[in-house]
Amino acid sequence: EIAEIIRESEYVVGMTGAGMSVESGIPPFRGADGLWTKYGNPPMDGYSKFKEDPTGWWNRRTNEKIDAHILELRDALANAKPHAGHYALAGLEKQGSLQSVVTQNIDGLDEKAGLQNLIEIHGNRTKLRCIECGDRVSLGEFVPLFAPDPCEKCEGLVKFDTVMFGEPIPDDVMMAARAEIDKADCVLAIGTSATVRPASGLLWIAEAAGATIIEINPTETKLTSLCAVSLRSTAGEALPALLKILSA
Ligand code: APR
Repeated sequence: EIAEIIRESEYVVGMTGAGMSVESGIPPFRGADGLWTKYGNPPMDGYSKFKEDPTGWWNRRTNEKIDAHILELRDALANAKPHAGHYALAGLEKQGSLQSVVTQNIDGLDEKAGLQNLIEIHGNRTKLRCIECGDRVSLGEFVPLFAPDPCEKCEGLVKFDTVMFGEPIPDDVMMAARAEIDKADCVLAIGTSATVRPASGLLWIAEAAGATIIEINPTETKLTSLCAVSLRSTAGEALPALLKILSA
């Protein structure tokens, strides 16, 4: 049924969340084994705290005085590899069944799996970004423990590209994500609880504009009632199966 809808669609956009990377060993945030479920919800003012005292923020990081959930997430991120679902998503793009992916994940696994037209709406953990001019610098696998120098372009404050709670989504990725959603006549929501705005708001915008919404998630979400099809499956099972059907 999902393959049929995709075949009949002109412009299919994927919207992935933490569930997309669970089978790569990265814990989700919500639900049974979510980090927030385990450690409690994080403070929503991370960004304003960082801006008040960036040196203090980096010193806590340098001295490993960072929250247990960040340590758990950081270790999982460091060892994670793309799984069959990531590669299948790249395969769907390659065969023209999918035109782009907006991901809420910062793990970079979509890019590693070969996805080309990818928008990382919550940033990428291996990049730094200037909060004034938005210039980004790739770090590769080196994740700094010390405060980076001010922006080479504008002397602005540089932080990790990863969007903190309370931080506005950088204009460039927000506009790019919105542009993709506005072109979509089908959105494939994979592994997201569809609870965190403004990213999740894009799903409601797409639906209101008449796009067909498809969900792949082992559990129901707030989005389920809007979906033409909501498949109770994991990303690692459903996406390779979908690619197989669409490759036949
Ligand atoms: N395959 C597909 N979906 C899965 C799998 C799996 N193997 N395992 C769990 N899920 C689903 C869960 O049922 C849940 O609905 O993935 C979803 C994960 O939801 P969240 O943990 O809330 O992740 P996400 O929607 O991406 O959260 C959005 O919240 O904390 C912030 O910035 C963080 O980007 C994150 C944002």
